Amino acid sequence: MKSLHSQHGEVRIGRDLDELSRQAASLFCDLAQTAIGGRGRFALALSGGSTPRRLYELLGSTAFRGRVHWPEVYVFWGDERCVPPDSPESNYRLAHESLLSRVPIPEQNVHRMRGEDDPARAATRYEEVLRDFFQLHPGEVPSFDLILLGLGGEGHIASLFPNSPALAEKEHLVVAPYVEQLRARRLTFTLPVINQAAAILFLVSGAAKSSALCKILEYGVASDLIPATHVRPVAGQVYWFVDEPAASRWLPAARAS
Ligand code: 6PG
Repeated sequence: MKSLHSQHGEVRIGRDLDELSRQAASLFCDLAQTAIGGRGRFALALSGGSTPRRLYELLGSTAFRGRVHWPEVYVFWGDERCVPPDSPESNYRLAHESLLSRVPIPEQNVHRMRGEDDPARAATRYEEVLRDFFQLHPGEVPSFDLILLGLGGEGHIASLFPNSPALAEKEHLVVAPYVEQLRARRLTFTLPVINQAAAILFLVSGAAKSSALCKILEYGVASDLIPATHVRPVAGQVYWFVDEPAASRWLPAARAS
């Protein structure tokens, strides 16, 4: 696993998805142990899509699950599709079948976004869940110990897509934007929540992500065209776990600089 520094955080490059997932699982366990040891809990927001499945399977396996004290882990999601929890599209279902059903985490510690409900109502309800869990004062933004993010081929994160009005949202913690590219609504954290995290862990795999990843790591400015360029943590740390195909366009530029 190579490790390179970029202007937007540390980039660890693995041969393939399995290697980058194993390395990410090891960091996950370290972050969980530090948070639980320091504050008695690990507040985590999971990502969706297909990339994190291997990470979740590893965290639920005998190789890793014993390294985390699951009763002190509190699970949320950074975004969700507007589907029922048993839908093949559901980010909750992905995490439940690959991880949460395999570790001793109390049911009340798992806070899924209700994708089956009216989207606007589900976003409002989830924001209330965050305010209650983090005991937020008005105007306060929750600080997750870790937010996992994937990367869309065009640079979207969570369900914040290019040129989405949701990128400008500064008041709400959770919104339900209509996503033109998908012709569907989604539920998603807003940028203030993402950027308040103590740690952000990107998992990026495959050559289809190489163009977006190169632009993100090379660009110095944030652009609504590439939402991931807006990830600028207030005080947290960004970790990029990428495989060689995803890094294939950035690596030469990184080595040349
Ligand atoms: C979602 C995700 C989304 C995902 C990217 C990458 O709900 O789909 O949160 O942001 O991380 O689209 O998806 P893949 O991992 O499937 O490439």
